[in-house]
Amino acid sequence: MLERIAHFFTRTKKQTTSVDTNLSVPVHVAVIMDGNGRWAKARSLPRIAGHSAGMKTVKEVVKAADAIGVKYLTMYAFSTENWKRPREEVEFLMKLPQEFLSTELDELVERNVCVKILGSREELPSHTRQALETAVEKTKHNDGLQLLFALNYGGRKEICDAVQELARQVEAGILSAEQIDEKAIEQKLYTGGIPEPDLLIRTSGEIRLSNFMLWQLAYTELWFTDVLWPDFTKEHFNEAIAEYQRRARRYGAV
Ligand code: IPE
Ligand code: IPE
Ligand code: MG
Repeated sequence: MLERIAHFFTRTKKQTTSVDTNLSVPVHVAVIMDGNGRWAKARSLPRIAGHSAGMKTVKEVVKAADAIGVKYLTMYAFSTENWKRPREEVEFLMKLPQEFLSTELDELVERNVCVKILGSREELPSHTRQALETAVEKTKHNDGLQLLFALNYGGRKEICDAVQELARQVEAGILSAEQIDEKAIEQKLYTGGIPEPDLLIRTSGEIRLSNFMLWQLAYTELWFTDVLWPDFTKEHFNEAIAEYQRRARRYGAV
């Protein structure tokens, strides 16, 4: 009997991947939260039910990242291409920031989390923008986890915006064409001043970037899982971190 109990405990323990924080913990983790629609479809629910369920995962992953000392966590929430979806779905997605922040903002403030937005804000409905800007304002002095929401974000648009801004500076005579180097472009990205992601996680079995952080992911470690976003847990997150810790990053060197 005792043996069986002992066996049970070793098995339970094995299922929970814990992170060895003595090994290198990624400074910046970026996440493509995908698979909400398929999660809902598998349950004969409308797609929006999958988006609601996915919000719980966002909360769990924020806590998991914070717990192991990740400094920047970027969550891809809405792409510049997602406007192509049915109007009702887009409208629902645009309400999620308010819904998320109405229940979570106080806790984020308490946890010393700083919220930032990556993406183009002009096209967002005013209620969405307001909710986000309130969160940004209320958390701007926090120096704990930096939580970046990529919303109406497109990697190509981000690069175009940066290049246009630099071109304007050249036109104005502030900058010469030769001064447009990698550093100059990097600083003009939405992520200016934020280190590039060390680890990218994508859920739902899709092995692509879908226009996400095209510049910043040049040397990022990529980790894909078939798990759909609403089913993704802290354990999956820690699994990704553990895998990251086993990788050798060479950046072209030997
Ligand atoms: C991710 O889930 C959420 C957003 C892209 C906004 P999806 O809605 O893309 O879910 P699938 O890929 O259709 O299952
Ligand atoms: C990428 O997922 C965008 C977000 C997770 C916000 P999509 O579901 O839009 O990507 P594709 O269409 O499968 O490439
Ligand atoms: Mg998808």
